[in-house]
Amino acid sequence: MPHLVAPSVLSADFANLQRDVEMINRSEADWFHVDVMDGVFVPNISFGFPVIKAVKKYAAKPLDVHLMIVDPDRYTQAFKEAGADILTVHLEACTHLHRSIQNIKSHGMKAGVAINPHTSIHLLQDIIADIDLVCMMSVNPGFGGQKFIENTYTKVKDLRQLIGDKKSQALIEIDGGVDLNNHKKLVECGAGVLVAGNTVFSSANPTETISLLKK
Ligand code: DX5
Ligand code: ZN
Repeated sequence: MPHLVAPSVLSADFANLQRDVEMINRSEADWFHVDVMDGVFVPNISFGFPVIKAVKKYAAKPLDVHLMIVDPDRYTQAFKEAGADILTVHLEACTHLHRSIQNIKSHGMKAGVAINPHTSIHLLQDIIADIDLVCMMSVNPGFGGQKFIENTYTKVKDLRQLIGDKKSQALIEIDGGVDLNNHKKLVECGAGVLVAGNTVFSSANPTETISLLKK
């Protein structure tokens, strides 16, 4: 299966959100990546339900919602109602991760688990068969436009192996610092979804950049 590209709305122009959403609709992008930050789990606050609903109103592709928040189970229903198609929680934020995943699935969404750069992929071994996506952070979560952490390549290969061993269908999504210099190698290592914020939105021709990331 060809890899997917998910531009991160975090780097869009919020004063021209409809324009940027429609640009992604017309592009070769596959999903909208939507970053929710609570100022507690990560040292930044992004946006919440009103903005997600505004994106959903115009989006013609699935919403991949990445929750960088504590206690995400409280809001599963609300994210479903706001328009999330894939809902990803952080392993580090969930005491009862299996319950959180079942909760997301019972609301009719695909379920993802995100892991921070320091978190071992081995902590996923007893959940990997139950999830649709692993969001592997390749920067410390909280901000767009950070530098890619090189150790990610090894982690992707190790996770690919674990997914095969456990007969899981989970996709590996790479989030943070993805650009036109590292995207090819990431796909070769086993990445199935590439998130890109700064690379897409700070480029002179975002549509063309998305198309280059697809190649
Ligand atoms: C970081 C977010 C990312 C971010 C990626 O905490 O999870 O999704 O938007 O942005 P870039 O591609 O600019 O590193
Ligand atoms: Zn993200």
